[in-house]
Amino acid sequence: MKYITLAENIPEVSVIGIGCMRIAAKSREEVADIIHTALDQGINFFDHADIYGRGESERVFGEVLKNDPALRDRMVIQSKCGINMGMYDFSREHIMEAVNGSLERLNIDHLDSLLLHRPDVLMDTDEVREAFEELYESGKVRSFGVSNMNRYQIELLQSSIPFILTSDQLQLSLAHTPLINEGINVNTGWDNGIVRSSGTLEYLKHKDMTLQTWSPLQYGMFRGTFIDNEDFSELNAMLQNLADRYSVTKDTIAYSWLLRLAQKVQVITGTTNTGHIINAARASEVELTAREWYELYKSAGNRLP
Ligand SMILES: NC(=O)c1ccc[n+]([C@@H]2O[C@H](COP(=O)([O-])OP(=O)(O)OC[C@H]3O[C@@H](n4cnc5c(N)ncnc54)[C@H](OP(=O)(O)O)[C@@H]3O)[C@@H](O)[C@H]2O)c1
Repeated sequence: MKYITLAENIPEVSVIGIGCMRIAAKSREEVADIIHTALDQGINFFDHADIYGRGESERVFGEVLKNDPALRDRMVIQSKCGINMGMYDFSREHIMEAVNGSLERLNIDHLDSLLLHRPDVLMDTDEVREAFEELYESGKVRSFGVSNMNRYQIELLQSSIPFILTSDQLQLSLAHTPLINEGINVNTGWDNGIVRSSGTLEYLKHKDMTLQTWSPLQYGMFRGTFIDNEDFSELNAMLQNLADRYSVTKDTIAYSWLLRLAQKVQVITGTTNTGHIINAARASEVELTAREWYELYKSAGNRLP
């Protein structure tokens, strides 16, 4: 497993992280199995949000920690806040309430990382600053980042808070590449040259921020996986070709394609299948060539200008 620095004051994090959005209906034993499999593979990073399963994901994860508290020291735990009953809410009051709820459900005394889940256009940056300062000073949160924000939203927030924003968690997979397309198709006049993220990928690199990729195997928004999906036959053929070349499986190659980006990348997988977790972990050992990276990009239906 490879590790990167997310924030200076927390342990280094594995480049593969376990997303906990889909564990809400799992039993404590099943979640313990997921956690142990991940840790055995060197994966130390676990991504939550207060809203996953309406809090059930954090709760069942917290049950595992309550049963075996020593596990906490082997983990870097991140959660998110800012979605409040179907709307976005970066008020001081909501941020404080959400973090306290996450800590309680997870049975832990601090989060290593807290992300603001989705941009709140009504954001009052002073309120966010006050909440972050209080959370940091009380020891409840050690570092801060964002999710689904473009570079201007990050710059606006960064200008108002005394903590360096560590990361931006964004949707990115071989079948969902608007972040990448805008950079490849600059000034072409093609639809996939439309600037949708304001150069956020380049901004993250420039600022040495970590790009956390969500839904790394999905197409659309939670429409299913492209792995073994006949609508993505050319992509699957290319994935198989490279899987054979590197003696791994197709999902491993799909994750390594993300890790090959120039940014500091963490892939947040949502699998709850222990075999699939092992496949994900292997991606950190595969270094695709630039040619292989572009071949995969093209096999997903993209063309180069
Ligand atoms: N910041 C945000 O706004 C945001 C939004 C959504 C998600 N997230 C985070 O991102 C994480 C990942 O999202 P996701 O669950 O949509 O991502 P994903 O890893 O792309 O999708 C996981 C789903 O794909 C299935 N799958 C099918 N074939 C697979 C294979 N060969 N290997 C692995 N999985 C396969 C999994 O089933 P099995 O369990 O059977 O493997 C699971 O149902 C979430 O858990 C959450 O932490 C963040």
